[in-house]
Amino acid sequence: MTVATARAHPNIALVKYWGKRDRVLNLPAVPSLSLTLDRFRTRTTVVWGAEADAVELDGKVAPAPRAARVLALLDLVDPRRPPCRVVSESNFPVAAGLASSSSAFAALALAASAAAGADTDPTALSRLARRGSGSACRSLWGGFVEWPLGERPDGADCHGMPLAPATHWDVAMVVAIVSGAPKPMGSTEAMEHARRTSPCYPTWVRTASDDVASARAAVLSRDLERLGEVMESSTHKMHATLHTARPPLHYELPATIACLHAVRALRERGVGAWSTMDAGPNVKVLCERFDAAEVVVALSDHVERVEVLGPGGDPVLEPR
Ligand code: PMV
Repeated sequence: MTVATARAHPNIALVKYWGKRDRVLNLPAVPSLSLTLDRFRTRTTVVWGAEADAVELDGKVAPAPRAARVLALLDLVDPRRPPCRVVSESNFPVAAGLASSSSAFAALALAASAAAGADTDPTALSRLARRGSGSACRSLWGGFVEWPLGERPDGADCHGMPLAPATHWDVAMVVAIVSGAPKPMGSTEAMEHARRTSPCYPTWVRTASDDVASARAAVLSRDLERLGEVMESSTHKMHATLHTARPPLHYELPATIACLHAVRALRERGVGAWSTMDAGPNVKVLCERFDAAEVVVALSDHVERVEVLGPGGDPVLEPR
């Protein structure tokens, strides 16, 4: 029996991953670019060689479909693996569009590979984490991370790549927690629904590479206005594929829309703040660190909980 514990941070996509070109290998239809956060984290322990397979998430036995996703990742580490026990805990609401699957599968990939004595090179772990949740392949590095499309049909070149470390740019991501309740439809199902039924989906795919190129240049030159604009555009194009799907899907709640208006009003007053949303109602606002307090005040009119996060670091293995 060997045991390993890993911690990883979630990441927020500044240019979104939305849509798959291969569902088995989890290869994306579009490239994406993200920021790994500090403070929020998932901590996961893997016992490699237990009495029976067991998965515990946030203090409870995992529901069967979630346990199956966790165990499927362990099978990829070693198809002839022994029974394993996985205990995982996140310090923020899961399944609410706060990118919890990104930190969960990054921490799981690292803890499982370390416990199994397998490859723990970040690129190998990124390929593995991608199979559990696409966005997780970007959480193998801190700071700004790109996930290019890759070209190979087997996905070998489809993994995250660090663009700039957390120390490159001290921006803030202010998170307005509109609701911590589980979302109405998971991201895999929602992106597939959009692909099949939205007339906006082809435009979404066609414009994504230019958005990543623009965001990359903005990150490297620390141009917040350019980054904020492309982030908002990517967000609204992604959500447009849902609004125009049949039947349509809206992750936004009334408080979500109120936060979007509040961010726009901040900008009209000269505060550099731009918003994004993922597959859930929560709003994340990108701004300079020195503007974060003003953003918190504006969002607090509409939600009860607001958190200020900054760029976070790489995943870590806890010493044994
Ligand atoms: O990693 P998944 O399969 O849960 O998909 C995540 C999709 C978004 O969070 C909406 C966008 C992204 O790039 O993280």
